[in-house]
Amino acid sequence: MSRVYLTGAGPGDIELLTIKALRVIKEADVIIYDRLANPDILEEAKSGCEFVYVGKEDGRHIMPQDDINEVIYQNALKHKCVVRLKGGDPFVFGRGGEEALYLLEKGIKFDVIPGITSAISAPAYAGIPVTHRGVSVSFRVVTGHESPNKKVSQIPWENFKSDDTIVFLMGLHNLPRISKKLIELGKAPNYPVAVISKGTTKDQVVVVGTLENIVKKSKDVPTPALIVVGRVVELRDQLKWFEGND
Ligand SMILES: C[S@@+](CC[C@H](N)C(=O)[O-])C[C@H]1O[C@@H](n2cnc3c(N)ncnc32)[C@H](O)[C@@H]1O
Repeated sequence: MSRVYLTGAGPGDIELLTIKALRVIKEADVIIYDRLANPDILEEAKSGCEFVYVGKEDGRHIMPQDDINEVIYQNALKHKCVVRLKGGDPFVFGRGGEEALYLLEKGIKFDVIPGITSAISAPAYAGIPVTHRGVSVSFRVVTGHESPNKKVSQIPWENFKSDDTIVFLMGLHNLPRISKKLIELGKAPNYPVAVISKGTTKDQVVVVGTLENIVKKSKDVPTPALIVVGRVVELRDQLKWFEGND
């Protein structure tokens, strides 16, 4: 009987892979992976393991999700141990739920191996705690993919007035609209924002600014990148530990 492991690869730093993920990667007959998973992880696979790339480039899908679901299913028919390796956590904007539902429909057994999501770990490597006593009592992880100009939004923008932390994933191309919308909602133009690119890797870049100037300051930042909005960003001055840490 075959089994599919919907596995989180973590955000980039290979040492942020879980022990359980590493175990199934070593046992895998096939690994189906995407762009955000650190390719060095594949070197941990046993000899003879097959690799299938179904990567996505920031919204531009190399392979449609329906086809990816089918690739996973077809591999489950052929192999005993199938690892579906996804960047960060498979259920945080990873479409892991859709893949699990497809396998369920086809009668294929699956396990979910959570991964360390970029939403928390990239801020942590930038010296930004997503919650901090007296500063932020909660954090939201929000898609930045939906344009704030959309007539009927699925995002509860009205709830973003507090000082609680907002982490936008997939939002770099929408940053001008996101910052404008937050100012329209009543946040001060000098409200703190950070953009973190390639978080947790040796190429990590962190740009700190305000709602008013972050677009200009981060215009050349490469993807993948996320946006942190909140007073917690101010803690980075004291807590940054990773960059230049040898
Ligand atoms: C499709 S979502 C997948 C998120 C992933 N499942 C996770 O839990 O981190 C892709 C988005 O995650 C963010 N992202 C992923 N890895 C990142 C990294 N190392 N540094 C900064 N942002 C990252 C970016 O906002 C990117 O557009």
